[in-house]
Amino acid sequence: MKPAILIARAIFPEIIERLSGYFDVESNQEDIIFTAPELLAKLKGKQGVLCTASARLNAELLAQLPALKMVANMAVGYDNLDLPACTARGVMASNTPDVLNETTADFAWALLMATARRVTESEHWLRAGKWNKWSYDAFLGADIHGATLGIIGMGRIGQAVARRSMGFDMRVVYHNRSRLTDQQESYANNAVYVSKEELLKTADHVILVLPYSTETHHTIGAAELLMMKPSATLVNLARGGIVDDVALIAALRQQKIAAAGLDVFENEPKFHPDFLTLKNVVLTPHIASASEATRRAMANCAADNLIAGLSHQRPPNLLNPAVFVN
Ligand code: GLV
Repeated sequence: MKPAILIARAIFPEIIERLSGYFDVESNQEDIIFTAPELLAKLKGKQGVLCTASARLNAELLAQLPALKMVANMAVGYDNLDLPACTARGVMASNTPDVLNETTADFAWALLMATARRVTESEHWLRAGKWNKWSYDAFLGADIHGATLGIIGMGRIGQAVARRSMGFDMRVVYHNRSRLTDQQESYANNAVYVSKEELLKTADHVILVLPYSTETHHTIGAAELLMMKPSATLVNLARGGIVDDVALIAALRQQKIAAAGLDVFENEPKFHPDFLTLKNVVLTPHIASASEATRRAMANCAADNLIAGLSHQRPPNLLNPAVFVN
């Protein structure tokens, strides 16, 4: 008998077909967002699950799923999983790193450029029929070229963002849990390691690419926003909760910083409605990794992990190797 799995959200049909070769698959092409009791009911008796960040796999849920052996998260971030609880219960967990680095770094630049050069704000104005003459001071923004770029979170995606800054002749400063090697720093446009405070005080553009955890909750709050230059832009494409959205709304409203570009929000998709009242913010619906090729690569990567894990092979992106038993 094939092991039973749940694909918790809608996915490319070829992934369902691929996984059906190995497993008895229950899919969710209607893309229902299951409540916790619904998710529990769907997962009862399943050995594996392919899920996304919208599924909260916490200790309470895992305790009621003795058959579960493998959770394959289709995302690089995995703050939706209680990893210690997975490990304690012998459940393997995996994510989808690397395949999305370059696409996500491209998007960081899309968001930064749109924010600093007021692309969406001016487009809304044009679409509203307000453009009747050219003006010397219409939609003046901040330059990207020659500016100082601050990156908080200098993992694989942060380094890919930094590499792209070479073409804009930028100086890069970064802050990270640990310092990169000299070789990594030189490949990342000679990025210079600084404290968070120095980065916030000196950068013209700040990009957040760090993982979410209780330690990184509200890395950017009211005090940090006050340290930034009034002309600075802030871009968050990491996770909601890294920025205190209420504090950011106040800072944007009072022009303590010039503008923000946000792909992620606290409590998304129910983001704070006051963002919609602000002109100096660019808002996108968590799409940094959303290129056709990359989303297919992420789905296949999650499937690779699930297939390996439930076939007594080590999943290539296993997050908790302690639980792997051959
Ligand atoms: C997307 O947010 C991811 O973590 O892959």
